[in-house]
Amino acid sequence: MRKILIIGATGQIGSELSAKMRELYGRENVVASTVKNAETENLQVEEPFEFFDIRDKKRLAEVCDQYRIDHIINMAALLSATGEKNPMLAWDINVNGFLNVLEVAKEKGIKQVLTPSSIAAFGPETPRVNTPQETVLRPTTMYGVTKVTGELLGNYYVKKFGVDVRGLRYPGIISYKTLPGGGTTDYAVAIYYDAIRYKKYTCFVREDTKLPMMYMPDCLKATVDLFEADFSKLKHHADFNLAGMSFTAGELAAEIKKHIPDFQIEYKPDFRQAIADSWPQSIDDSAAREEWGWKPSYNLATMTEDMLTQLEKKLK
Ligand code: SER
Repeated sequence: MRKILIIGATGQIGSELSAKMRELYGRENVVASTVKNAETENLQVEEPFEFFDIRDKKRLAEVCDQYRIDHIINMAALLSATGEKNPMLAWDINVNGFLNVLEVAKEKGIKQVLTPSSIAAFGPETPRVNTPQETVLRPTTMYGVTKVTGELLGNYYVKKFGVDVRGLRYPGIISYKTLPGGGTTDYAVAIYYDAIRYKKYTCFVREDTKLPMMYMPDCLKATVDLFEADFSKLKHHADFNLAGMSFTAGELAAEIKKHIPDFQIEYKPDFRQAIADSWPQSIDDSAAREEWGWKPSYNLATMTEDMLTQLEKKLK
């Protein structure tokens, strides 16, 4: 049986991925971890659980030994908006932290490392519509710089040291269980909460801002599918394009209005508009489809219906 360590297990994706992985591989085989403080953050965690900082390589190595870890999934990261406020910290966590994972994997013969990249790996010179797998990677955010670096490092460790490193360029992820924090695509989650709570939302990007997005069940499926994929069939490794759906902020608001007719939205773009404008509108994910059979299930209508149903229950 695999022994899996999930780093960053209390974040938006990490929390749901940990639960999913425990369902699939057995709770005792999935060690979740976070840098957060259980008391000050009021965290309810399920064992096996460890508290450490990804930048602490010694502790990371000890945890791997203690549980005989053979697969590491790295979900620890500072996102794009927070990264612009603290670029050095973003580099330290996203790059130096990830290098610790790669080094420990190399030294201990860990069987697989899975780490996400992002649509933030692209930049203003990248073709924005149906962005190809192989294209210009010149991001203008520190988050994007760390993601491209992570892709390059991942691919380097595959080639140079034979470590099995896999990664996928997540679009904006929409979910109702754990809030995202510090990302540019966070408006696409916050809008649902505010639609239910206040019937109005002030959006920090323009109405015509179109970005690639994905509903959490698809994100979990993509992650597990890549995790399970046959290494010998992979031509790409740490940098798979991944698509779910694409819509503008205005189209998202209109879809919500179908369910909540008196929902109101206003647009007050802030510094995150420039970040959104530097990213693609839609993604060509044919490499993921060909190499590991990727296929999304949700579109804007089916996601919105489910988000609103689930949030109605949660916020009651
Ligand atoms: N959701 C992320 C962000 O907005 C993109 O990877 O920063």
